[in-house]
Amino acid sequence: NKVVLAYSGGLDTSVILQWLKETYDCEVVTFTADLGQGEELEPARQKAEAAGVKEIFIDDLREEFVRDYVFPMFRANALYEGTYLLGTSIARPLIAKRQIEIARAVGADAVSHGATGKGNDQVRFELGYLGLQPDINVIAPWREWDLNSRSKLIEYAESRGIAVPQGKRNEPPFSMDANLLHISYEGNALEDPWQEPSESMFTRSVSPEQAPNTPTYVEIDFEKGDPVAIDGVRLSPATLLARLNQLGGDNGIGRVDIVESRFVGMKSRGVYETPGGTVLLTARRALESLCLDRGEAHLKDELMPKYAELVYNGFWFSPERAALQALVDETQKHATGTVRVKLYKGNVVVVGRKSPFSLFDQRVASFEDDEGAYDQRDAAGFIALQALRLRTLASQRGSPL
Ligand code: ARG
Ligand code: SIN
Repeated sequence: NKVVLAYSGGLDTSVILQWLKETYDCEVVTFTADLGQGEELEPARQKAEAAGVKEIFIDDLREEFVRDYVFPMFRANALYEGTYLLGTSIARPLIAKRQIEIARAVGADAVSHGATGKGNDQVRFELGYLGLQPDINVIAPWREWDLNSRSKLIEYAESRGIAVPQGKRNEPPFSMDANLLHISYEGNALEDPWQEPSESMFTRSVSPEQAPNTPTYVEIDFEKGDPVAIDGVRLSPATLLARLNQLGGDNGIGRVDIVESRFVGMKSRGVYETPGGTVLLTARRALESLCLDRGEAHLKDELMPKYAELVYNGFWFSPERAALQALVDETQKHATGTVRVKLYKGNVVVVGRKSPFSLFDQRVASFEDDEGAYDQRDAAGFIALQALRLRTLASQRGSPL
């Protein structure tokens, strides 16, 4: 029997690799993904080789991640609980999908991940696995073993000859997860929601206080809801998001510090940096304000919290997410155009928008003489009928005043 392990090459997954071999007497296949976390992947190959792994998969999934996961999610303007741009949530289904593909390719009957038993990630990985391969066996070491303290983990590593870097000996200051969309910080030093994070924690953005005193102007071109170019230069999805991360991060954009409701029931405090995603969300909304009809725009806004919750809870590969996606995508047919934003000390300010599909009609909107495009006298009947039920209520039940 064979297990495909989502393997970073870090201490935790190196221990898991060894533990799987000992506990299940199985062959372990490692899978390491480049999702734009900004880490070298070659060390993971060397460590896996040194641990005796014969089948090692290292995949650059950056373009697929942004094109097939991040951008579709952004078409929905998804925000969980009003603030979280779902940077970790959206990466998990892709990792799960690739792990299942590898399991099929190498004939493995099990997959394993390093998420703890208290969080959302275990749910997302496993709903992904089981939704794609209903008979796969799932091994979640953190829920099974008794290495639940730092010292036990290190003791186990040392007794098996797994290198423990000096910096890993103490409890890490926070738990992090990074990809092209965001970096997250949770746990340990952040566990008191009243405690402000130290400035030294942040890696993808300067603080708004340190950001330049002059604004940066950026133009983003969109086609059918997805960004395709920055300042007139066409870029691939991953390159474009990386560029927006740079521009946003340099201007102190995209930090959030929140308490969120985990799917497994508890509240958790998280700090996230999502510089490019924050610029993108603001720009996309400006484009939609111009190109989407009120009916379609309001309908997708009503459904947005549901969509965000599905992604957060790990139901990417569900029929209801697919159905919502079809609806959202239908509304993006005319979301083509250009938005100009000004990035300044933590703010994304929309300063211009244009589109060949603009629904903004100057003749109708203008207060100037309107050449019959809009007859102000029509408004009298419109208001009279809208008011009818309110007048009936006020006469029958009394005025609310
Ligand atoms: N709380 C966020 C979420 O559920 C971030 C999770 C970060 N995961 C991690 N393994 N550090 O999406
Ligand atoms: C974990 O528990 O592995 C990280 C946090 C989370 O998944 O929510």
